[in-house]
Amino acid sequence: MKMIFDTHAHYDDKAFDDDREELLEKLFSESVGYIVNQGTNLKLSEYSISLAEGYENMYCAVGIHPENITENSLAELEEIERLAGHQKVVAIGEIGLDYYWDIPKEPQKDIFEKQLLLANKLNMPVNIHDREAHGDVLEYLRKYKPKGILHSFSGSVEMAREIIKLGMYIGVGGVVTFKNARKSVEVVRDIPLERIVLETDCPYLSPVPFRGKRNHSGMIQYVAEKIAEIKNISVEEVLKATCGNARKVYNI
Ligand code: NI
Repeated sequence: MKMIFDTHAHYDDKAFDDDREELLEKLFSESVGYIVNQGTNLKLSEYSISLAEGYENMYCAVGIHPENITENSLAELEEIERLAGHQKVVAIGEIGLDYYWDIPKEPQKDIFEKQLLLANKLNMPVNIHDREAHGDVLEYLRKYKPKGILHSFSGSVEMAREIIKLGMYIGVGGVVTFKNARKSVEVVRDIPLERIVLETDCPYLSPVPFRGKRNHSGMIQYVAEKIAEIKNISVEEVLKATCGNARKVYNI
């Protein structure tokens, strides 16, 4: 059964340049049911659409990632809105705030806010990037109440509960398998399976035992195994429920 739903991937990354098509064919023929590739700027959002067009069960999000904000971003949002009308586009993403890198905060907030408004206007879900910006991200989510996923969730149990109360889903990936993942494990234990979706963020964040190697959607199996262990349920149950959750979020 192909029940892996990778809700957050970057197959446009150059790490896949040598074998992208071969790898995607193989994944879809083996264990992967669906993939949603995330857009990180205008050009890569366009590329994500063309990639998604090549595979029946590959979809994409379009958006501008906080690390890619430039002086053109504001103008590019009009193009992003146009791209969002494509039938393979299921969300606005990857959008959010990144306070880990030294990126000016005000332009980040401005572009994030405008993309949240765009998602609500188009009645589409969002895929949120929150790196060391929990307080501000939460404030925007409370204000605009978008539908969607908080990707690679790294906050506390309390924050996870609030995200769920707002109607959103928690994205869980390779990090939960890491040795020092105490906080992620606590979050997974606390929140209901009905609110968890799985993801890679590939080529990054490979689960143990492949930590540091190139990640791909097939490795979600190890994430599902870890969640099954934490929640004391079967791996099949985890894959089936999270696949259903993701289809609901992305309306696929
Ligand atoms: Ni990402």
